[in-house]
Amino acid sequence: MTVAELEEDSGRKTVELIEQAGGTAVFVETDTSDSASVKAAVTAAVAAHGEVDLLVNNAAVFVFGKVEDVTQDDWMRVFGVNVIGYANCVREVLPSMRRSSGGAIVNIASVSSFIAQPDFIPYNASKGAVAQLTRCLAMDLAKDNIRVNAVCPGAIRTRATDRHIASLGLDPDEAYRDFGQDSMLKRMGEPEEIASGVLFLASDEASFMTGAHIVIDGGASID
Ligand SMILES: NC(=O)c1ccc[n+]([C@@H]2O[C@H](COP(=O)([O-])OP(=O)(O)OC[C@H]3O[C@@H](n4cnc5c(N)ncnc54)[C@H](O)[C@@H]3O)[C@@H](O)[C@H]2O)c1
Repeated sequence: MTVAELEEDSGRKTVELIEQAGGTAVFVETDTSDSASVKAAVTAAVAAHGEVDLLVNNAAVFVFGKVEDVTQDDWMRVFGVNVIGYANCVREVLPSMRRSSGGAIVNIASVSSFIAQPDFIPYNASKGAVAQLTRCLAMDLAKDNIRVNAVCPGAIRTRATDRHIASLGLDPDEAYRDFGQDSMLKRMGEPEEIASGVLFLASDEASFMTGAHIVIDGGASID
């Protein structure tokens, strides 16, 4: 596996976790919003492991706010990473996937792809675009035997959530309890519960699925 990540510490930590679980992985410092950087990462991936048969698009930046608070630069950054970054990665892995006669792409979208949330305009607009990117790619790449699906997480305990809570000046324990109340299961999700959905969509168990979105949010978006 190749871990293409902007931050060296995070990339190396992810490699460590994969190795602890018995897998093999290499870290390649990558800015997914930069097509040359993505091209170099894919070249390194093919050199390390052979042809690419799976791509998981996960990198994101979290730009929130009301429309009047968001600058042109903010918009460029959030779409540059969250939407164009995903498209860059798909474009660069395509030749390799075609050589290996197919593959699977899993985009990490969000419940924010299809619900409105207060003061979340740039992030939610970008995640809405990821949902459409997924459907359109599924249509265009079906002839290449490439399935394209998305996972839509709800509120998950990650570093990004820790940062969001800190930026709001909230007490972490209280905030995690409160955020969890939106779900039917009255708790936040864990990253492993998202990984399970990704694994399923990446596997042959999902061989007749393309253009689909799996919502993993503890039921938060059902009402
Ligand atoms: N945490 C949640 O509650 C939640 C909910 C719904 C969806 N998501 C989605 O899950 C995915 C993972 O989010 P997370 O919560 O783990 O966030 P995170 O910030 O912990 O992880 C995102 C990673 O993306 C990397 N990244 C950012 N810009 C990059 C770039 N240009 N090139 C390469 N890497 C880059 C960051 O360094 C970071 O390690 C994102 O797509 C996010 O939108 C998260």
